[in-house]
Amino acid sequence: MNPFERAQRAGAELIERLGGEFDAAVVLGSGWAEVAESLGTVTGQVAAEAITGFHPPSVPGHGGTLRAVTAAGRRVLVMAGRVHLYEGHPPADVVHGVRAAVAAGCSTVVLTNAAGCMNPAWDVGQPVLISDHINLTGQSPLFGPSPPEGYAIRFTDLTDLYSSRIRQAVRRIDPSVSEGVYAGLVGPHFETPAEITMLARMGADLVGMSTVLEAIAVRHLGAEVAGVSLAANAAAGMGAPLDHQEVLDAGHAAQSRVAGVLSTVIGVL
Ligand code: HPA
Repeated sequence: MNPFERAQRAGAELIERLGGEFDAAVVLGSGWAEVAESLGTVTGQVAAEAITGFHPPSVPGHGGTLRAVTAAGRRVLVMAGRVHLYEGHPPADVVHGVRAAVAAGCSTVVLTNAAGCMNPAWDVGQPVLISDHINLTGQSPLFGPSPPEGYAIRFTDLTDLYSSRIRQAVRRIDPSVSEGVYAGLVGPHFETPAEITMLARMGADLVGMSTVLEAIAVRHLGAEVAGVSLAANAAAGMGAPLDHQEVLDAGHAAQSRVAGVLSTVIGVL
């Protein structure tokens, strides 16, 4: 089965198991898992590995659960337990969840993550809208054979990848929300201070190990992308030494702020 067929099958299973099609999906990153319940009413849930093509999680803090949540009158598929390139998964597996979400009807996918922060104007614990990304993974979800018939060609336009419509709508409601450029690296080690200096000079405000391939895959399928990073720590060399637990703790401490921004985003979809 090619990755597109596999995602179609998974999308059909999600519709079947969770009571119908969805309007939008939210992918929860590290530190975001706790916001799932506060988004709306949970109407169903299934373990990710029960659906075709999903992997069991391998990182503490990434629980593999897919939930149907009604929020702002919309059916939202909330996906916890993303898989990463650094776990050894190929790009097609990293983007399987978002492709399945689009196959299950989602016309918008909101990608969340925890990121290192290079922008000195921002506080740790602050949620930031992603305005654009720099993909430094050396990978693309569109590597490989041409997408099958019925799909767009692989030469995908990434102009306005992170919907300016959604960003403007969020900032109209909450002008205090900042936006910035996310650099996606493969990890799993954190960066060196010299790499952070380079990334900041390249125009990045945030750095992390996810999101970029999913955004590309969603755009290729013609759905809208939004991204929200939690500035979980000062990037390497700009603050204290880095620690995965610190990233999870930052998410815990920032609960109400991240939940608030995510609800605002869902409200404007
Ligand atoms: N670097 C890369 N990924 C991250 C970081 C970081 O500082 N913090 C959370 N994810």
